[in-house]
Amino acid sequence: MDSTMTHVSVMAAEVLATLPLKPGVTAVDGTLGLAGHAKMIAERIAPGGILVGLDWDSQMLAEAESRLSDVRDVEIKLFQCDYRQLRAKLESACKESGRAPVADAVLLDLGLNNAQIEDPTRGITFKQDGDLDMRMDRSSGEPASALLNRISPGELESALWNFGDERWARKISQVIVERRKSKPLRTTADLVDCVLAAIPAAKRDKRIHPATRTFQAIRILVNGELDELEEAIFDAGLALAVDGVMVILSYHSGEDRAAKHAIKNLVSTGSFESVFKKPLRPQDAEVAANKKARSAIMRAVRRIAEDPKQS
Ligand SMILES: C[S@@+](CC[C@H](N)C(=O)[O-])C[C@H]1O[C@@H](n2cnc3c(N)ncnc32)[C@H](O)[C@@H]1O
Repeated sequence: MDSTMTHVSVMAAEVLATLPLKPGVTAVDGTLGLAGHAKMIAERIAPGGILVGLDWDSQMLAEAESRLSDVRDVEIKLFQCDYRQLRAKLESACKESGRAPVADAVLLDLGLNNAQIEDPTRGITFKQDGDLDMRMDRSSGEPASALLNRISPGELESALWNFGDERWARKISQVIVERRKSKPLRTTADLVDCVLAAIPAAKRDKRIHPATRTFQAIRILVNGELDELEEAIFDAGLALAVDGVMVILSYHSGEDRAAKHAIKNLVSTGSFESVFKKPLRPQDAEVAANKKARSAIMRAVRRIAEDPKQS
């Protein structure tokens, strides 16, 4: 276990109170990260439960495996994959252990964990200089530098606007496209320089670093984080057993919109109900202790009957 990697699990008390956890049940954590939530879940489904855990980042999966190694009397099955494969992995794990391929509890804690953000070799943070990579699964796909050096100004502008809510999207995209003609972008500092050149000092939002929105938008684009997210959440909901609950934690408007629509679509099948009238937000004390929790939005859905019309 690498103890330098840390991440404080967000809204853990609310997640544990909402998921129907008891000994023997089947739980799925689709976004293991450093297994903070997963470990708390595993402890509550022992003895006799099964925990299926997914993460598309091999480093996180290895770390989660090590952190879960002292959990006793729970079957733990981990897979390096996208949570878009949640139902398929649940089925294969349950088949191996002779259980029905349905989940009593599903957690999707979307986005990134702190260890990924703070690792300078990943190029996700603007706070340290490093290769402009940003991929969560570094064995496939295109690093941010390659993407930024080839996409059209229009695509770039719309990513900055749609995934980062960046008001200066057009200007930032113009600066990037102009600069890459003479010197392709290679490092996080190159991207920060473009943002600083694009947004006049007097117009910058003083509450956040000027590059925050750009880095978020490019990371979402590189990893396809919002691609078919609503469909993926809907599909994960179909994995629930009757009385099973899925909790989704989102951290920005694009993710929450997908969660909200997926839950609405599940409810419209007649076999699900929304657990909360309004989404939950973290308590002030949690935000005071962990600034990264401030944007969290929690939604949950419960299956109330078998066989939705669209399965
Ligand atoms: C916010 S962290 C989870 C933290 C975890 N709940 C904890 O308490 O330690 C989100 C994790 O989901 C993973 N992830 C993000 N998108 C994913 C996807 N589409 N498929 C699989 N894993 C994904 C990331 O690699 C990251 O490790």
